[in-house]
Amino acid sequence: MANVLLGVTGSVAAIYTPNLYTGLRRAGHLVKVVATRPSLYFFDPLELEPITSSGQARRNPDVVYLDEDEWPGRDSGQRYERGDKVVHIELRRWADVFVIAPLDANTLAKLACGLADNCLTCVWRAWDRSRPVVLAPAMNTLMWEHPLTLRHFQQLAVDALTEPPADLDLDALLHWINANCSALRVVQPISKKLACEDVGIGAMAERPEIIAEVQQALAPHSK
Ligand SMILES: Cc1cc2nc3c(=O)[nH]c(=O)nc-3n(C[C@H](O)[C@H](O)[C@H](O)COP(=O)(O)O)c2cc1C
Repeated sequence: MANVLLGVTGSVAAIYTPNLYTGLRRAGHLVKVVATRPSLYFFDPLELEPITSSGQARRNPDVVYLDEDEWPGRDSGQRYERGDKVVHIELRRWADVFVIAPLDANTLAKLACGLADNCLTCVWRAWDRSRPVVLAPAMNTLMWEHPLTLRHFQQLAVDALTEPPADLDLDALLHWINANCSALRVVQPISKKLACEDVGIGAMAERPEIIAEVQQALAPHSK
């Protein structure tokens, strides 16, 4: 059993979040979710273990973490006080593995460049790089095939302390990362008719593939 932090970004594949959450739980893991604001267009946090009282269901803040959890009371003038918890650091301490599924193009760019403007990217920026991460990208085919995607994954490989050969195309680079970066795994997207009706590569990998990668990523790190 491991502590799995599931990051969810604003790809249409975030509709599968409840399904992936359930699969990871069934695999025996404790799971917390950190979701970007755009991802909430695609799934309802109430589908993941809500708290129910007097017939009313509300988000369980110990299961799904949103940006607003980083800044409690900010809109009502409350200020940070010494000793208050820093949520992205608490999540990083808690997690044995960070799984970002789906990883959209925007957050991929942020990971590669170090932008930390929401809870999910702050976890990434503060991550203990001896612990594994699993990335499951999902985006439109032309986004996937854009040279920026290759550049961003090259940067992630370099940041994982392994310099990839310069002449690899995207597909070869991702295979190379999985073979050579002990703490970084990429679950390649698959080809199918996408939500936008384009047909091609870019759909998030299926749940069994993602969970299998999580298990593999955890294997050398099992307690
Ligand atoms: C209906 C819809 C579907 C989208 N699907 C994707 C997608 O599959 N992959 C992607 O990279 N961006 C997709 N986007 C764009 C992202 O939601 C957008 O770049 C957003 O700013 C991402 O923010 P985040 O990375 O903070 O979650 C979609 C946007 C909309 C409105």
